[in-house]
Amino acid sequence: MKATCQAHSNIALTKYWGKRDKQLMLPNNGSVSMTLDKFFTQTTVAFDPKFKKDEFVLNGKTLAEGEEYSEVKGHLNLIRTMAKGKENAKVVSNNNFPTAAGLASSASGLAALSMAAAKAAGLNLNEKELSILSRRGSGSASRSIRGGFVHWLKGEKSDGSDSFGDQIASAEHWPEFRMIVNIVKTTQKKWKSRAGMAQTVATCPYYPTWAQTADADTLSMRELILKKDFTGVGQLAEFNALKMHATMITTRPSILYWQPTTVELMHNLMAWRDEGLESYFTMDAGPQVKVMCLEKNEKKLVSKLKEIQGLEKIEVCKAGPDAKFLDKHLF
Ligand code: DP6
Repeated sequence: MKATCQAHSNIALTKYWGKRDKQLMLPNNGSVSMTLDKFFTQTTVAFDPKFKKDEFVLNGKTLAEGEEYSEVKGHLNLIRTMAKGKENAKVVSNNNFPTAAGLASSASGLAALSMAAAKAAGLNLNEKELSILSRRGSGSASRSIRGGFVHWLKGEKSDGSDSFGDQIASAEHWPEFRMIVNIVKTTQKKWKSRAGMAQTVATCPYYPTWAQTADADTLSMRELILKKDFTGVGQLAEFNALKMHATMITTRPSILYWQPTTVELMHNLMAWRDEGLESYFTMDAGPQVKVMCLEKNEKKLVSKLKEIQGLEKIEVCKAGPDAKFLDKHLF
């Protein structure tokens, strides 16, 4: 059986940083994200008894060993166990944006893999079950099954059955909302989120404060999105991102994702905001700065951003769609 899926990446408005269960990928706090219309992963999976081993081709390159291959293989094993299948798989996956550069390639990648592999294995999963399966591959992938604005529920149960992506509102709810992705550098990042967050939980003296306050931020964010309160969403998203980065920076050894251009952008946005051009920023496990604004300020902001040296690319995104199956396979 062969299946192909397209899942879009997402950017968190309140962040996930730290696990309470590494095996099941259960978070210490809930998080809220926006699914992006422009950035996605397409993945085709086929299971076949004639395949001698699992094969994984990412962006045209065959990966036969290493961390990414092991992660995909581990996830396929989980799906084979669920489906009581034994056949090896071929997985071909393409990102239409830089991989592992803080643009949530693991979110769209693991969501697309989960959805395509589950179908190819003959499993018939609903959206909640697909989100839970995606979460087992990468926490933030639980938010990429649905479009629009999504709340990854922290959940209480030890088996993780209540920790999944719950759509707050579809993309149509807030068509004026923009996320401008500023690509500062596209080389692979030094600290992957998984290792970074484990190190933060283990060594950052401020982490307990993060864990105590992140859920309240997430619940407020949910309400602000429903009310379409742009100033509220922007202020809280920026504060929450800086709080997360404060824990990263004060981890031992320090995890500093910012580049000079990252800091320059933050200063500029704050100054433009003081002059009346309303926008807010958020950042993840990489140097990129994602700028939130409303449609009315998009053109002015983009022209000002274009003047900043050291930016490789500027992409304006809106809220994107649900993950979906495609008829056209990649092999
Ligand atoms: C900073 O979901 O990539 O982007 O669950 O270990 O795969 P794993 O981590 P991942 O972490 C994302 C961290 C973040 C914040 C966020 O997206 O909420």
